[in-house]
Amino acid sequence: MIRPMRWESGQLLMLDQRVLPHQETWLQLESWEDVARAIADMAVRGAPAIGVAAAYGMALAACSGTDLKLARQGLAASRPTAVNLFRALDRIMALDDPSYERVLAEAQAIEREDVESNLAIGTFGAELLPGRCSVLTICNTGSLATSGHGTAMGIIRTAFGQGKISMVYACETRPRLQGLRLTAWELQQDGIPFRCIADGAAASLMSQRKVDCVIVGADRIAANGDTANKIGTLALALAAKHFGVPFYVAAPTSTIDLSISTGAEIEIEERDGAEITHAEETPVAPENCEVWNPAFDVTPGELITGIVTEEGVTKAPFPFSARLRVSSTR
Ligand code: MRU
Repeated sequence: MIRPMRWESGQLLMLDQRVLPHQETWLQLESWEDVARAIADMAVRGAPAIGVAAAYGMALAACSGTDLKLARQGLAASRPTAVNLFRALDRIMALDDPSYERVLAEAQAIEREDVESNLAIGTFGAELLPGRCSVLTICNTGSLATSGHGTAMGIIRTAFGQGKISMVYACETRPRLQGLRLTAWELQQDGIPFRCIADGAAASLMSQRKVDCVIVGADRIAANGDTANKIGTLALALAAKHFGVPFYVAAPTSTIDLSISTGAEIEIEERDGAEITHAEETPVAPENCEVWNPAFDVTPGELITGIVTEEGVTKAPFPFSARLRVSSTR
C-alpha cells in the first residue's frame, strides 16, 4: 500500500505529490512550519492526508517546545476547505497531556484510524455496485490522498478485488491534474483497467451509457449532505442526474461537519491563477489574463444517491450522528 507520509526519527517524511508520477521524492519536514508549507503548496493533498499531516505538524511543534496554540493557528491557515485538517487539530488541542509523546501517539492514532475507515468504506461501497460495472471518478482519492487504500478509490480497489470493476474512467482534474498524475499512477500499480478522460468528456461518456456509477470523494460534508469536493464534481453530479447514473460520495466521518447546516457555509479555497494560465512553468494564456480558480465546488445533497462512510451508507436526508461536529475552523 502506498503511503503519502511516514514518521521517522523525529521527522515527517512526505512523498512530494507535486512531482509524481515521474519522480519519487521524499521531503524531510522538521517543523510545523514545514508541514504548513507542504499543505499549502500541495506537496500533500487530499482531505484525510492533510488532516494526518497537520497532526504530525503538531507533534513537531510539541517536540520543539513550541506553543501548540500558535502551531494550531499556523497549520489551520494552510488550506481552508478540507475539514479533516481542523478536526485533527481539534483532537490534538483537546489532549489533557500535550507532551510530545502524547501528541505523537494521537497523530499516529489518527493515521491508523484513517486506514481502518477507508477499508470499511471500501467494503460498504463495493456492496453498492451491481455485478461488473464501469465507474467514473475525479481527482485523487486513493492512498496518496489518505493514509492508505483511499475513499472513492478505496471502493474501486475493494470492488476490483471482488471482480466487480470492468473499467474506471478517471477525470484528468484540471488544473492540478490529480486524476491524470496520481489516480492513473495508483490504478496502474494495482492493475485496474482505466482510461483517463478530459474533464469535459464526462457528460458525453454518460450520454453513451458507458458509466454505471460515479464515485467521488469529499473535502467537507454539511449536515444536509451538501458536499464540497474537487472543482468539476458538481458538473458530474448534474450530468449523472440527467442520465440516471447513481452518484456516490465516499468519505470518512471525519469529513462530515455538523457545525454547518448547508454547503453555502463551506469556505471554498481560491488558488493562484497561474495554476490555470500556466502548464507547469510555461505560460499558455495571454499575458495578464484574468482567471477564477476555485479549488472546490459544492454538490447539493439532493444530487447525491448515497454517502458512504466507515459506518455504512447514508441516503437523503442524511441522518448523521450528532458527534460529528468540529469545534473550530481557522
Ligand atoms: O485539492 P486537493 O487535491 O487536496 O483536493 C482533494 C479532493 O478534492 C479529492 O477529490 C477528494 O475527494 C478529497 S480527498 C479524498
